[in-house]
Amino acid sequence: MKFFADTAEISEIRELAETGLLDGVTTNPSLIHKSGRDFLEVVGEIASVVGGPVSAEVVALDYEGMMREAEVLRKIAGNIAIKVPLTPAGLHACKSLTGDGTMVNVTLCFSAAQALLAAKAGATFISPFVGRHDDVGFDGMQLIADIRMIYDNYDYATQILVASVRHPMHVVEAAKIGADVMTAPPKIIWQLFKHPLTESGIASFLKDWESTGQAIV
Ligand code: G3P
Repeated sequence: MKFFADTAEISEIRELAETGLLDGVTTNPSLIHKSGRDFLEVVGEIASVVGGPVSAEVVALDYEGMMREAEVLRKIAGNIAIKVPLTPAGLHACKSLTGDGTMVNVTLCFSAAQALLAAKAGATFISPFVGRHDDVGFDGMQLIADIRMIYDNYDYATQILVASVRHPMHVVEAAKIGADVMTAPPKIIWQLFKHPLTESGIASFLKDWESTGQAIV
């Protein structure tokens, strides 16, 4: 499973990249607003830190506008994935951009029917929002399972990018289903490392090691 960081905070991205486990980054207009940074500048900086896909979202709602914005965004770096909303215009832009060799992340997916449309439009990534789906009383993970089954039935190459991840169990459940990618806020990625028994185990090993009076180097 690939791990993407869902943030536009460059310091957090650098810190995660040092683990060697970060495969990409996703941003959205809200995350850009939160960062307080210039959109094109921060996306360029992120794309220079992370070798994998960096999603940058268009804000136009019409096909021509999306294509004009995508033209600017894809020139920033070779690893930019253009993020488009799951609308007829977004999928039209998706088809044109992927046909041209540009990665496209189709975002704001809330149904298996929408995910099927995105695959037919040749999306590189489909982003079902599990947390927001759960928030309104639906089962976000069931949506991931349904999309996995549909994509496998037809051998669609579109990668399932689980988004709106709110806790480590979302990541584990998505991995059990076989989602290709998950994107999560850095805080949640760091939580994946944690287990109280790992911490207490280290403490007791170190205590016993000190009692041996030895040193490795
Ligand atoms: O980037 C899209 C998605 O991950 C948003 O998550 O927490 O705002 O629902 P959230």
